[in-house]
Amino acid sequence: MNYLSDKAKSVIPYTPGEQPQNKKYIKLNTNENPYPPSPQVLKQIKEYDVKELRLYPDPENTALRVALAEREGVRPEQIFCSNGSDEVLAFCFQAFFNPEGLPVLFPDVTYSFYTVYADIFGIPYQTVPLDGQLRINHFDYCRANGGAIIANPNAPTGIYLSLEKLLTVIKYNLEKSLVILDEAYIEFGGQSGAPLIGDYPNLLIVRTLSKSHSLAGLRVGYAIGDEGLIAGLKNIKNSFNSYLLDRLACAGAVAAIRDESYHRETMLKITRTREYTVDRLSDLGFMIPDSKANFIFVSHPEVKAGELFAYLKEQGILVRYFDKPRIDNYLRISIGTDQEMDILVKQLERYLQKR
Ligand SMILES: Cc1ncc(COP(=O)(O)O)c(C=O)c1O
Repeated sequence: MNYLSDKAKSVIPYTPGEQPQNKKYIKLNTNENPYPPSPQVLKQIKEYDVKELRLYPDPENTALRVALAEREGVRPEQIFCSNGSDEVLAFCFQAFFNPEGLPVLFPDVTYSFYTVYADIFGIPYQTVPLDGQLRINHFDYCRANGGAIIANPNAPTGIYLSLEKLLTVIKYNLEKSLVILDEAYIEFGGQSGAPLIGDYPNLLIVRTLSKSHSLAGLRVGYAIGDEGLIAGLKNIKNSFNSYLLDRLACAGAVAAIRDESYHRETMLKITRTREYTVDRLSDLGFMIPDSKANFIFVSHPEVKAGELFAYLKEQGILVRYFDKPRIDNYLRISIGTDQEMDILVKQLERYLQKR
């Protein structure tokens, strides 16, 4: 007897990057921030009154929403918080897209969780091909649709789409359908669409503290949008789990958000390391689309990405390789510290010389 539902039997889940538990790797495979969170996070968590943990957390995450609203220049009613932005995205599929509706649009090469959510919630979707240089053509999203999701910068390419182009998409779809901008990597050099929220009720921004604030392990994501959209997300959330974020996660997240100078310093370090790494890898013959994220997407005209992936792993360096159509000759490399990137570049140089 097989007790699984048809869905549990057939669903193809998302495969996250490896999190090795035994061997120590230079870990450049899951776009984590190489720097620790703000010291204020540690202080808040250490000083947290543990007795409070007997109580359920605030189901409204008020303190966190207030802190985020101040940072983003919106009202707390325009913020929804959840357990990582993956969970925000999962709620979005349920709150905004209809199984009987027109297909939701997203690029053919993008964050692979979008297809997983569409499949599990039975939402029709259509993938839109990137152009030959892996860029999004924004006009492709100006046609009848049941919603659109654009990661900006896109993952795994790192390519950023200007706000001006996105505005064309948002305006075209106004009063027709919702446009979700997944801004997981926006703080590494892009311009956020958050200031447009007041004028465009069909725009929802999804963000995370995982990368920008070094808090992937704390699991804090959020959405910014019109109050009506946020109310829809809350309805879905309250039909699933009243308490998404735990007390420690909220306390740590507030501390991270309030330490803006530490955050800026970290962003600067990562973007500098990115530019330096791009220069050095370009000198070795790698082709790299312009990245505004904390990762780069690289290919080499003479060496197969799969080979490089295996070699780097042997040398104790983990990067991400997607064995998928169109991108099976690329490696996605997260930006680590200067020292980690030096080791990576030297290993790649060595491999290329040995051939
Ligand atoms: C484009 C994109 N969106 C969302 C996420 C989810 O981030 P988290 O659930 O850690 O907030 C990721 C994580 O890698 C991502 O790459």
